Amino acid sequence: MKILVTGGAGFIGSNFIHYILRIYPEYHVINLDAVTYAGNLENLKEWKDDARYSFVKGSITDKDLVDGLVAEADIIVHFAAESHVDRSILNPDAFIVTNICGTYTLLEAARKYNRRFHHISTDEVFGALGPNDRPFDENTAYDPRSPYSASKASSDHLARAYFHTYGLPITISNCSNNYGPYHFPEKLIPLAITNLLENKKVPVYGDGLQVRDWLYVEDHCKAIDLIMHKGKTGETYCVGGGSEQPNIWIVKKLLALLGKDENLIEYVKDRAGHDRRYAIDFSKIKKELGWEPQVNLEEGLKNTIEWYKNNQDWWRKIKSGEYKDYYAKQYNDGK
Ligand code: NAD
Ligand code: DAU
Repeated sequence: MKILVTGGAGFIGSNFIHYILRIYPEYHVINLDAVTYAGNLENLKEWKDDARYSFVKGSITDKDLVDGLVAEADIIVHFAAESHVDRSILNPDAFIVTNICGTYTLLEAARKYNRRFHHISTDEVFGALGPNDRPFDENTAYDPRSPYSASKASSDHLARAYFHTYGLPITISNCSNNYGPYHFPEKLIPLAITNLLENKKVPVYGDGLQVRDWLYVEDHCKAIDLIMHKGKTGETYCVGGGSEQPNIWIVKKLLALLGKDENLIEYVKDRAGHDRRYAIDFSKIKKELGWEPQVNLEEGLKNTIEWYKNNQDWWRKIKSGEYKDYYAKQYNDGK
């Protein structure tokens, strides 16, 4: 099997490539990635000379490039996206181009060669839940509220439309907040861990009582593996960690695990349009494909802390580069 992975140099994509190449010795992976600020080829350096892995630098919006790569592949697993909500608020442009036009370009090529297509999406397309609302499931109506989630909702609709209109064999997964190794340190958990390792404060937006459902990235990779091989085409699968917690709980837990003092918490201005709560009902994928999360939040956070302690070069290089200016600006605006 030859898998075209888009966005494989990013957080979830690189974890997925490691997972696939380790589990399936006979599989080949082509990684198409534009290597934006979020892409990092260091993530995959152990495979760079392996005959089963090849890397192509380029954009999913490049029609000719995409056409040639899709023609070679048996299946496309599509991760490539602009993924950070705060950046989408500051500048939505790249979100529209990559997440909508890029997905369209891939779908067109998949249609031309009738290729199996798995689209990775997010629970953010469903909007925000109140404290007593039922968790999102596959029947929840779409209600995206940020430029990021609106762009992901658009790409989901396109993928579904290609199934209904052209019979393209697609599947979609909408998952909750991933965490684990190789997570870019602009997102809450890796930002908090790396700041705390540097004895810096952790910015908590608003009152810190926004709730997210946390999914260990390896569990997500296992879910994608099952959907790729056993998922029913045309179907959507909601994937969650079963670990709902308010942001302030996460930050205090990291402080405790790292033996740091709570004076390192700094409450800052809230994110515009901040969704209050996400939660996922993953009973469909559990019932139909036998998937459920294996790594609980405490264990996942401990593994993640260990990874950031053992890979300081990886994140220190990022934090002292382009990222530094981006976050310094936003953090000051937020005070
Ligand atoms: P990421 O930002 O870490 O990585 C994105 C990757 O896509 C990077 O390697 C980047 O270089 C690449 N990329 C961006 N624009 C590109 C383009 N035009 N052409 C080719 N490559 C391009 O993102 P992530 O957190 O790994 O998320 C991967 C996917 O999973 C995204 O589609 C995201 O919407 C979805 N998702 C993420 C989460 C999460 O918690 N991280 C949760 C639900 C869904
Ligand atoms: O729910 C899935 C989504 O999870 C994915 O689709 C996105 O690609 C991914 O980035 C993530 O989005 P969030 O906005 O939930 O993740 P983030 O880590 O940016 O923020 C998590 C929560 O923590 C959110 O409520 C905002 C808050 N936060 C975030 C940062 C970066 C803070 O309080 N302080 C911070 O510094």
